Amino acid sequence: MRRIFSGIQPTGLIHIGNYLGAIKNWVKLQDEYDSIFCVVDLHALTVPQDPKTFKDKVFDLAATLLAAGLNPKKCLLFAQSHVPEHTEMTWLLNTITPIGELERMTQFKEKAEKFRESINMGLFDYPVLMAADILLYDAEVVPVGEDQRQHIELSRIIARKFNNRFGNTLIEPEALIQKEGARIMSLSSPSKKMSKSDNPENFIAISDEPEIIREKIKKAVTDSGKEIKYDPEQKPAISNLLIIFSQFSGRTIKEIEKEFTGKNYVEFKAALSETIIKGLEPLQVKRKELLVENPEKVNAVLKEGAKKARQIASKKLQEVKKKMGLI
Ligand code: AMP
Ligand code: TRP
Repeated sequence: MRRIFSGIQPTGLIHIGNYLGAIKNWVKLQDEYDSIFCVVDLHALTVPQDPKTFKDKVFDLAATLLAAGLNPKKCLLFAQSHVPEHTEMTWLLNTITPIGELERMTQFKEKAEKFRESINMGLFDYPVLMAADILLYDAEVVPVGEDQRQHIELSRIIARKFNNRFGNTLIEPEALIQKEGARIMSLSSPSKKMSKSDNPENFIAISDEPEIIREKIKKAVTDSGKEIKYDPEQKPAISNLLIIFSQFSGRTIKEIEKEFTGKNYVEFKAALSETIIKGLEPLQVKRKELLVENPEKVNAVLKEGAKKARQIASKKLQEVKKKMGLI
């Protein structure tokens, strides 16, 4: 079985962009691949977090992933900071990573702009930690949203550099980006991706109650004209809503367009809200159950996951250190 690795940050509220672009895909992939999934708490620290609630966020995200259908019998799930090999590997990779490559990273440029007063070294080094995550596990495939493509490309560059210098050791990973759902856009401006750090009005959180979902969809921007038609150029807002509809219902965009021929935006939005509500319900029920009644289960999964992950990671790290002449 080929191995996949992916990570998700425990920051802010998980939204339907994360769900459709990443989590839902992971649940499918765990049947086809040797799968390792990680709550990347160290990555999240690159922007300010509240120490009082940070651990709870890691826990909540792990519960959400399990509720969405990750099955600990089929995959490993752990928290990044529980496996210290990730930071050690980062340092080693830092020594071969050109600064120029890091300066080109779009995500760094965007975040540096946004957190102008607190640009820290970690934010700059973020992609190297991400490369360490992936390369430690010999992952061949990395399922991510479109926004992470550049970081995977950098992981390949780092692996190649290492191999050229020290001999064949690291596997160059490939990004696996699903087509639809790879980039769900903000409800208020369809040119911006739906983002956890945005105003919650502009995204639908995985934990939103039905009433909130109805309200948010009602307020979502639409395009001029009346037709419910998929046309990302002329009708970016409606196209985004159609993708969401299609993803939650399992129906094709064509079928949905047909159903709403001659109907207006209000009718379309009402049906969309109910589809999202229904799509999220099983996840919400399970998440609450895990958080309220079964927190030990989540902790046990994380503990076991970290133990098994360490066995893999420490072996790889030894190999890397040997090649670099440290041991
Ligand atoms: P993050 O929110 O940056 O921790 O991202 C977690 C995962 O969700 C990554 O695989 C992202 O590529 C994916 N993701 C984040 N935002 C979106 C979005 N608006 N549409 C689709 N996928 C997304
Ligand atoms: N940077 C990724 C994101 O924001 C999260 C991440 C960290 C990741 N390490 C990873 C994704 C390794 C894939 C593989 O979405």
